[in-house]
This record gives sequence, structure tokens and C-alpha cells, in this order.
Amino acid sequence: MKIINISFVGLGNQSREYMNIIQFMENVKISSVCDLNQEIAQQVSIEYSTTYYTSVDEMARNGDYDIIILCLPHSEYFNAIRSLARPGVRFIKEKPFASSFSEAKILLDLIDTKLCTYDVLLRRRFNPAYQFVADSIDRIGAVYSAEFTYTLAIDRLDEGWRAKRDIAGGGALIDMGYHLIDLVIWFLGMPEIVMARTSGSAKPDQKYDVEDTAHLLLAYEPTTRRPNPLSANLLISRSYGEKGEKVRIVGTNGVIVADPRGATLLSHDGQIIEHHGNSVETAEILNRQLAALIQASNSPTTQDSANTDPLLHHAIIEAAYHSSKTGGAVPTSGLLKGRISHEHI
Ligand SMILES: NC(=O)c1ccc[n+]([C@@H]2O[C@H](COP(=O)([O-])OP(=O)(O)OC[C@H]3O[C@@H](n4cnc5c(N)ncnc54)[C@H](O)[C@@H]3O)[C@@H](O)[C@H]2O)c1
Repeated sequence: MKIINISFVGLGNQSREYMNIIQFMENVKISSVCDLNQEIAQQVSIEYSTTYYTSVDEMARNGDYDIIILCLPHSEYFNAIRSLARPGVRFIKEKPFASSFSEAKILLDLIDTKLCTYDVLLRRRFNPAYQFVADSIDRIGAVYSAEFTYTLAIDRLDEGWRAKRDIAGGGALIDMGYHLIDLVIWFLGMPEIVMARTSGSAKPDQKYDVEDTAHLLLAYEPTTRRPNPLSANLLISRSYGEKGEKVRIVGTNGVIVADPRGATLLSHDGQIIEHHGNSVETAEILNRQLAALIQASNSPTTQDSANTDPLLHHAIIEAAYHSSKTGGAVPTSGLLKGRISHEHI
């Protein structure tokens, strides 16, 4: 079987987690690594007995790669992909897909024109608890309400590139919130209307120009399968006093409550109908995700295996930032214009 050459770009926390897993995979070789920081690049190349580069242009000229895994500050993805794109290359990249909606559109066109393929790393898609939610949602009847929360308790909001809008593209919403928005799209489809308020005042003594907290209200029109309107609330915060993640979806025949450790199907009066605990460790979830996305590079179809179109994610994020700025409710249809139909449960 052909050995797949994988190169890594950006050798921070996230890449290191993936390299630890990929080094043990069969028929896969870490063929090169790249980081602006020479000390880091050199150290990682020694650890994994591979070649290192300190710029993507140098890697593009000399590197031997089938797949490139990119884990970069958000503003760096576009230039890296533009430089490394050549026919047949597969990009597996960290979220968010891009640093803004408009950049996402240009990046998708670039990947297409250069005959490359891509996937976004969204680990929750490989979590059995969330897979149970996706598989069970039809059992709770017509959904009319949903809540999604994802909170952290980060001490220093002013440190690193995440504190800077021009690098991160935004704060909690575009960063950690991308995962929550992916769950929304996976479980409920695309909302028609987005309302949002964001705030960046959690730590008045620290300097950062991104939001630390975002509240979103997503509105869905009735459909044939779901004759009533549906509203979903999202709370995303990097500074909420505790780390937590929870999903609650309520339908006419029952309720599903889930977090990364398990999912429970309840009757309307709170009786447990089925509980699906998740005992799969994070490393194994990542292993399954990476194996699936790497495997997809062998398939003749170029469509990404696990994700929906990232323009959907970016349309919700763009609409939310716009709503927060203007105070109004923002339709997503104007952003997507004919590209995607509003697919609903
Ligand atoms: N899925 C998740 O749960 C999760 C968790 C954390 C981070 N992330 C995502 O992973 C990505 C990276 O985050 P991180 O925490 O690893 O960041 P990090 O700051 O730890 O690492 C980024 C690395 O990229 C390098 N770098 C910066 N610009 C570069 C360039 N132009 N070329 C080459 N190297 C460059 C930096 O020197 C640094 O070593 C982000 O997109 C982030 O949102 C995802």
C-alpha cells in the first residue's frame, strides 16, 4: 500500500496532539514539519526524524506531501494554503475554516481551482455521544427548542494571538464557538435568522479587542417535517467561571440532553428512556477522526467526509457579528444566496 506523506504546518499545542497520534498510524509518514519559529521547527523535526522548514514557501518548493495538516493562528491559513496548493493535495485544517465569511469564499474557490481537497477538524463529529444525538433526533418528534452552551474559565484573555481581532478574526464565537455552530448545523440544519450580542468586558484590567462571550438566538421557520417554528439559544464564553459543554434539544415527543461524556433521551416528563454513555477517550476520538480524514484522501471522490460546507458555519458567525454590531436580526439567506438550500430536520 502507498505510504501517505503528511506534512504539518504550525507546530503549537494542537499539532503536537495530532502528531502524537499520527506517528503510530500504519502507511503514514510525517514527511516534513514547518513553523515560523526555528527552534520549535528544529526540535519537532528531531523528535519525529523528519525535515523541517521555517516558511510555507520553502516547504512548497521542497516538501514532499500528499496531505498537509494546518494548525495555525487564524489569519495565517489563507496564505499558507495559497502557497502550498498543488493538484491532488489534501488540506486537513483546524477550525475555523477561515478568519471571515468573505475569506472563506475566496479560500473555497482557491482550493477548487488548484484541484485540491480539504477537511476541517471537528472532533465532536466523532464523539459517540454526539453521534447518538444525530441518530436519535427523529425520535423526539417535532423539535421546537434547543440550547447549546460551551464555556471556559480562561485566566488570561489578553495573551497570545487569540487576544487580537486582526489575527484571530474574532473571539469566543469564531474560535471555540465554531464547534458549537457545527453541532447546530449537524443536528438542526441552517437557521433563517440570527440575532446575537457579544461582549468583551469580562476582564476590565486586561487588554484584548475580541469578544470573550457571545449569546446567539437562532430562528428556524416551520417546515413540512416540523410544522412549528424552532428557536435555538447558544452561549459561548471564554470567561464563564467554569468549563462546560451541554446540548439540550426539545421536541414534541421528548428531549435529548448531551455533553461529550454521554447523551440521554428523556420523555417530556423527565423519565429516562435511553442513556448512551461515552467511554471513548479523547485520544481515541482524535485517532478515529484523523484516520477517517486521512483515509478519505485515498478515495476517488474529493468531497470531504465528515463536514458540511464551511460557508454555513461562517454565514452564522458573520450574521451573528453583524447582528451584535447593528442590534438587528440578520437573515442568513442573503449571505448564502442560492449556494445552499436551508436543510432542516
Ligand atoms: N479543535 C480544537 O479543540 C482546538 C483546540 C485548540 C486550538 N485549535 C485550533 O488550532 C489552531 C492552532 O491553535 P494552537 O492552539 O495550536 O496555536 P499555537 O499558538 O499553540 O500554535 C501555532 C503555531 O503556529 C506557528 N505559526 C504562526 N504563523 C505561522 C506561519 N505563517 N507559518 C508556520 N508556522 C506559523 C507559531 O509559531 C506556533 O508555533 C487554531 O486554528 C485553533 O483555533 C483547535
